[in-house]
Amino acid sequence: MSGKGLKIFLLMVLLAGFVAVGQAIGEEDADYPTEPIIFEKPVKAVIFDHKLHVEDNGLDCDSCHDDIFEMEAGNSEQKKDFNMKALYKGKYCGQCHDGDTAFASNTRCTLCHIGVKGYNRMMGVKPAGGHHE
Ligand code: HEC
Ligand code: HEC
Ligand code: HEC
Repeated sequence: MSGKGLKIFLLMVLLAGFVAVGQAIGEEDADYPTEPIIFEKPVKAVIFDHKLHVEDNGLDCDSCHDDIFEMEAGNSEQKKDFNMKALYKGKYCGQCHDGDTAFASNTRCTLCHIGVKGYNRMMGVKPAGGHHE
């Protein structure tokens, strides 16, 4: 490659880089976790699905981040009041799951609570052998 050809080549590589970065910024909406987040504390197991909330119900990231939830899976689980009482008072999921914006937190328990069996299914855990369950 001639000196000039190399310069043009490098310029094109640089431009391609800029375009790629530009696209990544434009697509920030797709940056939510595609796998559901599973809470295990204080009880196993509660499911939260970004896709359902963002795509199917058209919620912005802003409606949850960072006022209600940090963008960090497991953050709420560290808090002492991450429980039903707080939800009923309108905290965490209860900010929307109040029977107004979304179904109330004191109804349809099993939509959020997938239980130990649901947890094992999602984590690919097989029931221990020997038992008759
Ligand atoms: C309806 C509420 C809600 C909406 C809307 C929402 N999120 Fe989240 N997000 C959560 C919850 C809940 C968690 C887990 C936080 C926790 O454990 O305390 C979370 C966690 C995350 C995490 C951390 C994942 C990890 O593995 O640590 C990222 C990144 C994230 N959200 C990005 C987004 C983006 C981007 C959007 C918008 C496209 C969005 N979220 C919209 C509720 C929401
Ligand atoms: C910013 C508002 C908002 C927050 C916060 C929120 N949700 Fe929702 N959620 C909705 C809306 C809107 C729907 C759809 C309407 C409905 O089902 O009542 C929904 C639906 C659901 C469903 C129904 C799934 C189905 O199969 O129909 C589940 C489960 C759920 N949310 C769990 C959670 C959990 C767990 C949290 C907290 C970690 C949470 N949501 C926080 C707004 C919210
Ligand atoms: C909108 C989602 C949602 C609904 C609906 C819901 N829960 Fe919960 N629940 C949670 C979350 C989030 C936690 C805290 C995380 C964890 O324990 O995994 C929790 C925790 C709990 C706990 C342990 C902490 C505590 O408060 O003692 C119990 C027990 C519980 N739920 C029972 C129920 C029952 C019974 C119902 C139905 C009447 C119900 N939940 C409906 C989301 C929900």
